[in-house]
Amino acid sequence: MKTLLNELNTDNAEQLWQCNSRFGNLQILENDRYRFLQVDGFIQSVMDLQQADRACLPHAQWLNTALLTKPQSVLMAGLGGGDLIRQFRSAGMASQFSCCELCPDIIRAYRDYFSAGVVGNDVEILQEDINDFIPQCQRQFDLILLDVFTGSAQPACLDEEAFYQHCFGCMESNGVLALNVSVNQQEPLLQLALMLRRVFSKKLLMMPVEGCNNVIMLAFKGRPFANSNKEFVQAVRQLNNKLPNPVPVQLERLLGSNVCDERGELALWHLP
Ligand SMILES: C[S@@+](CC[C@H](N)C(=O)[O-])C[C@H]1O[C@@H](n2cnc3c(N)ncnc32)[C@H](O)[C@@H]1O
Repeated sequence: MKTLLNELNTDNAEQLWQCNSRFGNLQILENDRYRFLQVDGFIQSVMDLQQADRACLPHAQWLNTALLTKPQSVLMAGLGGGDLIRQFRSAGMASQFSCCELCPDIIRAYRDYFSAGVVGNDVEILQEDINDFIPQCQRQFDLILLDVFTGSAQPACLDEEAFYQHCFGCMESNGVLALNVSVNQQEPLLQLALMLRRVFSKKLLMMPVEGCNNVIMLAFKGRPFANSNKEFVQAVRQLNNKLPNPVPVQLERLLGSNVCDERGELALWHLP
């Protein structure tokens, strides 16, 4: 992470676009290797100019684990610079990709500066608040990706159990909910995990991303793709063979921790 952040130093980058939106100061910057989107100085998305489908940010690499469910219909909340769209599409997944994005200026920035690297040009972009969209949604998705943290805040709905119940209703029977949350305190993280375990009958994986406060969570409506850390590690190794860059896994560390509770259901992953 440090290396990438050093490479994304604003001193050696040219500003391509800037906009004072009501969500903050948006900037698109570019150096000889990366084009990246910032909101109020916080990096949201990073595109490698040589390889647009490569996951650059560590949490985006971890979100590739959602590909293990082979999702075809995907709803993502939080467009940013569309890193996940490029990653998922180039892996041959997400033939139906819809995205809910609140900020019209971000949508413009994505279309003008980040969408050229996307396989297929049929991504459905809805200018909506995910908090309004989900409770009214009549569709069902294989994967719902919630990636709405903007560096300074995240929407209040992420703390509400009713919101996750609506998400559950919008998922296919084998659907998965993937969340990227940023937390610097244990208690809110624990509350969120307990809430998701209630809604998803305990089928929850938590993967802390090394070097930052992000935690990736996968909650399964149906059978999880792995029932133990060992199975998960094997599945990720196979996936990594197909990705332009691997999930940067402390996989060996996962092997040492216990993933099942006393009834054999998936439990929280407590990683050091
Ligand atoms: C970290 S960026 C998303 C990065 C993106 N997923 C990617 O693949 O590059 C977070 C995005 O969430 C959006 N956002 C924040 N709150 C939202 C909400 N309530 N509904 C929809 N989008 C929201 C922000 O405008 C911002 O574009």
